[in-house]
Amino acid sequence: MSAAEKSPNGSAASSAATTAAEEAELLARRADYPILAKSTYLISHSLGAMHRGVFDSMQEYARMWAERGIRSWAEGWWAMPGTTGDLLCDILDAPRGSIVMQQNVSVTQSIVASCFDYKPPRNKIVYTSLNFPTVMYVWEARAREGAVIREVASPDGMTVPTELLLDAIDEQTLLVPISHVLYKSAYLQDAKRIIEKAHSVGAMVVLDCYQSAGTVPFSLRELEVDFACGGSVKWLCGGPGAGWLYIRPDLRERFEPKVTGWMAHEAPFDFVPGPIRYAKSSYRYLHGSPAVPAMFAAKPGYEVIRAIGVAKIRRKSQRQTELLRREALARGLNVTSPVDPARRGGTITIDPTPLARGGAAGAGASGAAGGGLDDRLGAAVVKALAARDILVDFRPGAGIRVSPHFYNSDDELKLCLDAVVEIVKTRDYEKHQGGAAY
Ligand SMILES: Cc1ncc(COP(=O)(O)O)c(C=O)c1O
Repeated sequence: MSAAEKSPNGSAASSAATTAAEEAELLARRADYPILAKSTYLISHSLGAMHRGVFDSMQEYARMWAERGIRSWAEGWWAMPGTTGDLLCDILDAPRGSIVMQQNVSVTQSIVASCFDYKPPRNKIVYTSLNFPTVMYVWEARAREGAVIREVASPDGMTVPTELLLDAIDEQTLLVPISHVLYKSAYLQDAKRIIEKAHSVGAMVVLDCYQSAGTVPFSLRELEVDFACGGSVKWLCGGPGAGWLYIRPDLRERFEPKVTGWMAHEAPFDFVPGPIRYAKSSYRYLHGSPAVPAMFAAKPGYEVIRAIGVAKIRRKSQRQTELLRREALARGLNVTSPVDPARRGGTITIDPTPLARGGAAGAGASGAAGGGLDDRLGAAVVKALAARDILVDFRPGAGIRVSPHFYNSDDELKLCLDAVVEIVKTRDYEKHQGGAAY
């Protein structure tokens, strides 16, 4: 991978298009993902398709438990938070040993939060109103320990101008927990500038990479970020229960997480009573017994992403999201995600409201939704699409999220958009109001 391809914002990768041979090679992988044979699967921002290797991997987990029993721990299970994390180190360009597996982002950020005291004068937490809510819940709870929360509001509900965030980071700032790619609009934040500003005033950054890892190439090493985390459910195609935490190696031994447990002990099998003696490795940030089945499930998905390389995935993603954006506008749909491909992740958000109202579509320069997004309409259109085996989702205030991954064809994108138009024009969505969401 060249330095340009590892650009934290993925912008350098946009200049090169995927070749016909690369596209064919990526599409040939479709056969490895059973759900693609039955569904138009454009929801990898939420749950990436399962690789068929997961059947064998889970079988291996069950075989070990059934045949090796207790010996399985020493034969690989105890090591899995590290060995599985090392696969991610390769994908995210981090030194091996710097990522440990956790269960999810919420637990991971709670562990990071427990590393700090929130005493003035440095007790400010700066984040944006477009963080994924779970992250806000974790940091808002720190207010009870003395933290001062400074939420930077998004002017358009879809993006956060970098300057606004930079201005909020000051000498009182302790931590800046932010999303790399915003979950609603796919706006790609300028992580490098935010990290540089934080470091210049003595603050640290916790980068939530859930919506970037596996679709936007970046280098944790080059970003020099303090903490990073994510999960595996989305673009990494690794399934639930496989969250991860990166700690910059030079910071590792500086902290003593208060959320802890025996797996974080230097010698867990000495069963020493009393206060913990923390491990020197990244296991220092673990707690109790690891989620072994989730890590078995995650491996096949990771291995494919690592083999393809995120730079190549990004090249295809940028071509397809641009195709999707143009084709949506041509059909009278509004597009609410950022217009500049270098400033967005792998998702395009679509608002069918103008079509339903018979008005003209458009896309604000910032991607801001125009004309008043009808949330009930969007949610019902998604259900009508699901009834046709076209899988996407809806987020209030943003629109229908449509996400091509490396295994999707251009025809699938057009099929999805044509179906949206037909559902709106025939008012088929009226039959699909209410019910459970995902
Ligand atoms: C940016 C982002 N962070 C976090 C999460 C979820 O957090 P958790 O792993 O705690 O479920 C999501 C979506 O599910 C997300 O999009």
